[in-house]
Amino acid sequence: MTGGFCDVSVGIQPERDNGMGKKNTVLTFRQAKEEGRKLTMLTAYDYSTAKLIDEAGVNSILVGDSLGNVILGYEDTIPVTMEDMIHHGAAVSRGTKNALLIIDMPFMSYQVSVEEALKNAGRLMKEGGADAVKLEGGHRVCPQIRAMVEAGIPVCAHIGMTPQSVNAFGGFKVQAKTESAARLLIEEALAVEEAGAFAVVMECVPAKLAAMVTEKLSIPTIGIGAGDGCDGQVLVYADMLGMFSDFVPKFVKQYASVGETMKQAIRSYIDEVGSGAFPADEHTFTIDDEVIDKLN
Ligand code: KIV
Repeated sequence: MTGGFCDVSVGIQPERDNGMGKKNTVLTFRQAKEEGRKLTMLTAYDYSTAKLIDEAGVNSILVGDSLGNVILGYEDTIPVTMEDMIHHGAAVSRGTKNALLIIDMPFMSYQVSVEEALKNAGRLMKEGGADAVKLEGGHRVCPQIRAMVEAGIPVCAHIGMTPQSVNAFGGFKVQAKTESAARLLIEEALAVEEAGAFAVVMECVPAKLAAMVTEKLSIPTIGIGAGDGCDGQVLVYADMLGMFSDFVPKFVKQYASVGETMKQAIRSYIDEVGSGAFPADEHTFTIDDEVIDKLN
């Protein structure tokens, strides 16, 4: 499978070959923006899921620090560590062939100093297998973005509702609704572009503002709760497959009810083990009766 694109004249869906080889890279992102083709990104946190998502042809897989919620059962992403990101990132990278693999920098892995940020970004590339890293923030992380890009590490920025700042925001709330906050968002977007980010995730911002930012930038915007005017979309895979029921945000579309399907299958398994219907002959290994007789 590839994460390429079809002829823009017949649509904007990702196709099987973009004429630039199969692997999605930062160049795929740039070209998609230039040619007006939408980009797709989904999260993954393990090998098997990453393999399915990659084979389906998504442009990019994000090992989001949302693994704190989805996989580790935390209330927010604050407790997620570098070790968590490397452990899950490496598993995802083993299942990813064609998607651009982005790994999130967890809370406090890049805020303390540029030097520490650079070291940690390097670890996500070397030990986690990342093609690129993502970090949250605008102006305040521009020195980090510059240093990483200079070191050859592609950086995806993340602005708007940045979950690592949930305590500063006072909750998971839509951002940039007032004039001054909207102006700040535009400035943040321009600043991360200028610092060298190859793309920017915009989370939970009004659709018209996100479309305006998208117009102003030459790098692609990837929206989550930011409307259809962005250059691409990202969702948490467990949300869009209906596997995570703790909280379903307004911006999530559930494309399947995998959680319900899993529960039904597990109930059938419990019933069949109880009734003796499982395991059947076809699930069972045999041994010569002669051998068994000798054991009696
Ligand atoms: O951690 C994550 O999954 C993310 C996406 C929601 C963009 O940052």
